[in-house]
Amino acid sequence: MGRIFMFDAYGTLLDVHSAVLRAGAPLGDKAAEMSALWRQKQLEYSWVLTAMGQAGQSDFWALTQSALDFALARHGLQDSHLRQALLDAYRALDPFPEVVKVLARLKSARHRTIIFTNGTHSMIKDAMAASRLGSVIDQVITVESTGHFKPAPQVYAVAARLALADHPSEITFVSSNRWDVAGASAAGFVPVWVNRAGLPDEYASFPPMKIVADLHGVE
Ligand code: LAC
Repeated sequence: MGRIFMFDAYGTLLDVHSAVLRAGAPLGDKAAEMSALWRQKQLEYSWVLTAMGQAGQSDFWALTQSALDFALARHGLQDSHLRQALLDAYRALDPFPEVVKVLARLKSARHRTIIFTNGTHSMIKDAMAASRLGSVIDQVITVESTGHFKPAPQVYAVAARLALADHPSEITFVSSNRWDVAGASAAGFVPVWVNRAGLPDEYASFPPMKIVADLHGVE
């Protein structure tokens, strides 16, 4: 019997900066800063709305659009074509290069592969249709119906239930977002941190079981 391998989507399987790389040519030398601010605001909105108890009023796609609007305005850009091109690109983000290969190997070793994400089902459906990700994922679980975003403890409990785990420790949870690893650790999952950027560790009370440079280390 294989294990349950559960993966965060944005930043872990999907390269969130590939949208600006693909469609952000008009941003010129502001591209990297814009992309970082877009991601930072998207996450900030998810945390703030969850802390306010208002996360049920919105979904991750709405937050993604509001965050892009802030980032564009912050850089003095008002261009509806650029905005739409960036949003279209966000629905078809590139998986990191090793992702499909590693997930295919996990599946052939009879492990289960699950996405667990803040993203909506519709966002993940588009991402899977735009890449070969769809062929290596067994199940998609989103926070959509929970009224919370990660790292609220409720959402990890819902994920464990929907994954049909008898106990959270049956789940190896893989994320490049260190705060998401902390949430999974607090929930009793076995967390693996994908530290692609070589960042210093944080949230010392909620450590990963393992730190890897990319998904190869997960197997
Ligand atoms: C996700 C965000 C946290 O996919 O990246 O859940």
